[in-house]
Amino acid sequence: MSKKGFSTKAIHAGHVDFQPGSMITPIYQSVAYPYADAKEAAAIFTGEKPGYTYGRWDNPTVDLFEQRMAALEGTDGAIATASGMSAIFLLSHHLLSPGDEVVSSNRVYGGTFGLFDTGLKKMGSKVNWVTKPEDINEWKNAITPKTKFLFVETPSNPALFIADIPALAKLARSKKLPLVVDNTIATPALQQPIALGADVIVHSTTKYICGNGTSLGGIICGSKTLIDGIRQTSIRYLGPAMAPFNAWLNLLGLETLSLRMEKHCANAMAVATLLENHPKVKQVNYPGLDSNPYHKMIKGQMKGCSSLLSFELKGNYKDATKFIDSLRVITHATHLGTCRSIVTHPASTTHSALGEKEMKKAGISPSMIRFSIGIEDEKDLLDDLAQAFREVGKQGKRKK
Ligand SMILES: Cc1ncc(COP(=O)(O)O)c(C=O)c1O
Repeated sequence: MSKKGFSTKAIHAGHVDFQPGSMITPIYQSVAYPYADAKEAAAIFTGEKPGYTYGRWDNPTVDLFEQRMAALEGTDGAIATASGMSAIFLLSHHLLSPGDEVVSSNRVYGGTFGLFDTGLKKMGSKVNWVTKPEDINEWKNAITPKTKFLFVETPSNPALFIADIPALAKLARSKKLPLVVDNTIATPALQQPIALGADVIVHSTTKYICGNGTSLGGIICGSKTLIDGIRQTSIRYLGPAMAPFNAWLNLLGLETLSLRMEKHCANAMAVATLLENHPKVKQVNYPGLDSNPYHKMIKGQMKGCSSLLSFELKGNYKDATKFIDSLRVITHATHLGTCRSIVTHPASTTHSALGEKEMKKAGISPSMIRFSIGIEDEKDLLDDLAQAFREVGKQGKRKK
């Protein structure tokens, strides 16, 4: 299977002939697996005999999802978790001891920022933020003898920062440190960080991998030593295991991942082009556009730019909310990476607690809209945007 193509692996890798025969992986909705006798139980626990012991750290349905993800990311193993955040937390907990440090790009998802900024302190560890992650010297300067890993999210949510993975991997290797990449937005269908020199991959499988917005999940893909270590210690003590049903939904998601990502990318490019040329749009943030500062990084690194973008309207908070309320096909929700297109208005939702000053620092303007482009028909998306822009225009006229 290792020599097969991505789409073939996404459907077949790791499959075992479950008995009685079933084309689709059964959902083992069970936390325990009775043993034939005491001898077998002891052999499974010591690892002499393959088998399952307890649902917090192993389950046949989850196991298959882990094997399939490892095959797609090109790692020896993987361990699935209850959410993307629990994957990043488990990995940090496993790699860090009190006094240790992480070096991370500051363009990371808000939950990751919170975990590194405040959560690590509670574990006696800390983060050294790289505030200009496009500059490799900043990374070099942030590394200390206490650093245990480098962390980068690329593309990042919501800033759409694109890192130079080979350059970071080279630096990590020279310092004998693992490079961890959050590959949630690209997915392995568009970006293979291990082939570019990274060591560990984390995902929120809640997004494109699941694809329908039906289940929270996360995964860590890495060496056998790392994954066995997390399974034997951190996940046993801390407990955020992936539910078997969620693993099953993720397996279904993987079967169509490469096709969906192609359509996500094509629709996103069409939407980004429309937005870039629209007179009511101030700025569009999408690495697929030639005008984007990170566009040159994509070459040789990504097969496509995925479908997360942000844009700023020429207008204010009210114009942005009017625009969002006028959309008919595109959903207003706090999510991304699903078949349906989703917009979020950070200033009134995810970042509303920050206050004006802090929001500005985080690069969030009152008229900014985050947009996860789905796989609906391109024309319907463009028409929906066009009619919402007209509604914003009407509002402007009324004000005069
Ligand atoms: C890039 C990235 N990583 C991690 C997470 C956390 O994932 P979850 O919501 O599954 O905990 C998110 C969530 O949006 C994300 O966008």
